[in-house]
Amino acid sequence: MENLIGLVNRIQRACTVLGDYGGDSALPTLWESLPSVVVVGGQSSGKSSVLESVVGRDFLPRGSGIVTRRPLVLQLHKTDDGPEYAEFLHLPKKKFLDFALVRKEIQDETDRITGRSRHISPVPIHLSIYSPHVVNLTLIDLPGLTKIAVDGQPDSIVQDIENMVRSYVEKENSIILAISPANQDIATSDAMKLAREVDPTGERTFGVLTKLDLMDKGTNALDVLEGHSYRLQRPWIAVVNRSQADINRNVDINVARRKEREYFATNPDYKHMTNRMGSEYLGKVLSKHLEAVIKTRIPGIQSLIGKTIDQLEAEMDQLGRPIAVDAGAQLYTILELCRAFDHVFKSHLEGGRPGGER
Ligand code: GDP
Ligand code: NA
Ligand code: MG
Repeated sequence: MENLIGLVNRIQRACTVLGDYGGDSALPTLWESLPSVVVVGGQSSGKSSVLESVVGRDFLPRGSGIVTRRPLVLQLHKTDDGPEYAEFLHLPKKKFLDFALVRKEIQDETDRITGRSRHISPVPIHLSIYSPHVVNLTLIDLPGLTKIAVDGQPDSIVQDIENMVRSYVEKENSIILAISPANQDIATSDAMKLAREVDPTGERTFGVLTKLDLMDKGTNALDVLEGHSYRLQRPWIAVVNRSQADINRNVDINVARRKEREYFATNPDYKHMTNRMGSEYLGKVLSKHLEAVIKTRIPGIQSLIGKTIDQLEAEMDQLGRPIAVDAGAQLYTILELCRAFDHVFKSHLEGGRPGGER
């Protein structure tokens, strides 16, 4: 049997494909009800670096200014073996084996919608990565929170970005990955400010500290990491990503991950917590947590799927024949998917795992 995160991934994609179809369809509600991990933080706090490090691949556009200008829904699928490749929802038949081309496609596809205006758009880009080296996880990368408009962007961009980010994190089903640089006062963190607003108890917020290596000599992040400066229900996790100099020198991401492990293992301040730090650990924690959240939501998801099946059947009846080939085929596909999920979720609920998971 497919793992739960993989299943939810497929429903999410199917909902998206059909997103424009029908005004009163249950699909948008179904999509909203599916949990995912949302990455938030100020500009240059290290969001893209953290994502790349969790994936273990270079594939995100980087640079100064507002690089991420559309939400990126990144679905990681763990495969048993075979080559690593990526696929975009908007280019369904194309397998990307070269991750430099993935980066280029994200840039091009961003420009396609925003028209090189440097403005932002709420229309997400959907990217799937298949690899034996990833954990099953859905992550949503968003534009960085900012305080001033630059590069000739309209002043409204500051508020527009905040509104977009807020619309993702305020959903009760979002797991918030709040990124703050360790070389800035946590009290001034944009990520923590927003996370606290939408999740005051810290129940669904994971605090991540980046740039430990850039802290002033003689200081450390223990106050934050041990939960004294800023209390969350979940443990804080620190990471050390590549510096800009590393990126300019093309330091390989796997070399960087090894250096990160060494950093925690040998640093006198952190070596007692080395097994709960770093990007790899972060990926594992998030994957486990996402699966646990999905499990608690199965009954709700299932009832929504039940409703969706009823609605889709009614819509198919109404369309009758002949129907637009496209819409009909798509509806049929999602109907089949929903029926399959109904079946699989039921067995997960009953605790049975026919076929064995993973
Ligand atoms: P984003 O704007 O939040 O997506 O941030 P990026 O991931 O693009 O990182 C912004 C800059 O900070 C880049 O030059 C990175 O190399 C650098 N950076 C990110 N994380 C770290 C870190 O842990 N240590 C160091 N030294 N630099 C980092
Ligand atoms: Na950036
Ligand atoms: Mg970024």
